[in-house]
Amino acid sequence: MSTVAPSNSWQEAVADLAPMSGRARFLAAARRQPVDVTPVWFMRQAGRCLPEYRALRERHDFMTVARSPELAAEATLMPVSRFGVDGAVLFADIMLPLDGMGVPFEIRPNVGPVIADPIRSAADVDRLRVVDAEEGTPYVLAALRLLKAELGERAALLGFAAAPFTLACYLVEGRSSRDYPRTKALMYGEPAVWHRLMETLTEVLIRYLRGQIAAGADAVQLFDSWLGLLGPDAYERHALPYTRRIFAVLRGTAPTIHFSTGTVSLLEAIASAGSDLVSVDWRLPLDAAWGRIGAEQGIQGNLDPTLVLAPWPAVEAGARDVLRRAGGRPGHVFNLGHGILPETDPDVLARVVELVHGVPETTG
Ligand code: CP3
Repeated sequence: MSTVAPSNSWQEAVADLAPMSGRARFLAAARRQPVDVTPVWFMRQAGRCLPEYRALRERHDFMTVARSPELAAEATLMPVSRFGVDGAVLFADIMLPLDGMGVPFEIRPNVGPVIADPIRSAADVDRLRVVDAEEGTPYVLAALRLLKAELGERAALLGFAAAPFTLACYLVEGRSSRDYPRTKALMYGEPAVWHRLMETLTEVLIRYLRGQIAAGADAVQLFDSWLGLLGPDAYERHALPYTRRIFAVLRGTAPTIHFSTGTVSLLEAIASAGSDLVSVDWRLPLDAAWGRIGAEQGIQGNLDPTLVLAPWPAVEAGARDVLRRAGGRPGHVFNLGHGILPETDPDVLARVVELVHGVPETTG
């Protein structure tokens, strides 16, 4: 196992860096350049634990918020104001590209996405429409344009999509599942159909992410939430080629982040997909994970999202440990290892941001 080479030259160089805007700080880290302090944002920060988001949801259902650019922008900005994070992740959902593909779905509270007619055969795959983001999800692009104007330099505007594998899990299974048995049966049993499905999703997602970048997203994250279901061989055969293509196509347009969880056994292969930052969960210490990813890619993470439910001294120790393991090396974006849990106290997250921003890179 290789480790990240220690270096002191850049540490001296960053000691005097002038304070940076949140956006500049995030983008510098995404490009593995020196920063004044470590940038931080939280997955699922737009909603979930915020009372102001719950109040918004009392008035409008989830899809109304997601499909209304003004409301989506409002929800996106809530955590930026409250936490002072360096990244503003668009309020949206990984299911939205299905609007353009012609697949009806709903998002049920406490259940998640539900598709009445899942995609399970070659004929189903053939019916999927491939359209540009402007045609399929114009409201996503409109929300990004509003946010671009509203945010200025305060925070980097983060777009996102599901990775093809994770979107396929919902499309084939029809809803959240622990094991995704129908999806994996299709993947293993009908590889030609699987390949066509993944090709179609890859094309849709490339258009979707390009549209987001053109509309103002500073960086984009691919959520591959269910990758932990795969072993190394299945990953390399049935999922990796498609994410690799997406990152290759986006290279040079905006920094990319690749999120997954429960994927300790896949880390090197995941890094080889070619994102700028690899988002890791808490199952490996950050320095060990970075050593396996390699110093030529940045890292995002990796505080355990349940740790922020504990008393402050434990949270503080955990956050400082993450920073210590990052060692001030350029290319670290602080985050949780997975999304915020709904029962999280927002004040604790605000304190985590203060802590991360208060620790200069050189002493972190
Ligand atoms: O980070 C953010 O806050 C930005 C918005 C965002 C949402 N979903 C809003 C949302 C993002 C980035 C997502 C991604 C997403 N959606 C993922 C990948 C992230 C992960 O956790 O692994 C997945 C798997 C989904 C699918 C999905 N949508 C689920 C599992 C759920 C939860 C259902 C529930 O109520 O627990 C949703 C709904 C959803 N997406 C909510 C929000 C704020 C809650 C819906 C509500 O307000 O009722």
